[in-house]
Amino acid sequence: MIFAANLKCNHTRASFSEYVNIIEDAFLGDDIYVFPPSPAFLMGNFSFNQGAQNFYPAKNGSFTGEIGSDMLEEFKISSVLIGHSERRNLGESDEILSKKFEFAKNKGYKIFYCIGENLQTLKDGKRDEFLKSQLEIIDLKYPNLIVAYEPVWAIGTGESASFTQIAETLGFISNFTDAPLLYGGSVNALNIAQILSIKECSGVLVGTASWDAQNFINLIKNCE
Ligand code: PGA
Repeated sequence: MIFAANLKCNHTRASFSEYVNIIEDAFLGDDIYVFPPSPAFLMGNFSFNQGAQNFYPAKNGSFTGEIGSDMLEEFKISSVLIGHSERRNLGESDEILSKKFEFAKNKGYKIFYCIGENLQTLKDGKRDEFLKSQLEIIDLKYPNLIVAYEPVWAIGTGESASFTQIAETLGFISNFTDAPLLYGGSVNALNIAQILSIKECSGVLVGTASWDAQNFINLIKNCE
């Protein structure tokens, strides 16, 4: 199972160092990915994969405020999130997402590509059509791809999608790709085991419930 922690805009380098110490002491066996904010990146060899929440599709250059692959690779980072709804909301278009995808693919990075519909799209019965359009802009055969289904209405709301909704949607997505599929959106200690019991589900992308290291460890241990 894949357990990914999206720390979003939380943790300084000092607090992330403590976070990492707690994670390292827990000897988590599974496939663990932690995405801290970039100023908190740490040097070192860890038992988990440190990933980047964001990057600019260039090695370096005149891109004020951006993070190029040189900066990621200094920290041995080769796992990235692309398409998170919070980045899409800030204006990341399909065009920039495809550029990021192509760049990360050429680098051989592990790509966590996030897709998900908002509440209106769901209510209008257009979920599948919408998800298909988000999938169409990337190479679904890329071997280092992981697709995370994160319905926008379930992110940070405390209200995860239901078992049936997740099972149905991951089933739909699996028609288009053989990549491992994750679910994200208010995953917590109470719902994680059931979510992971879904046939097409290979893991979870966790926000809020991962910000405290012990909480994240408990989530993982709950499922063992
Ligand atoms: P959440 O966030 O667990 O707080 O809903 C998930 C995510 O945004 O990846």
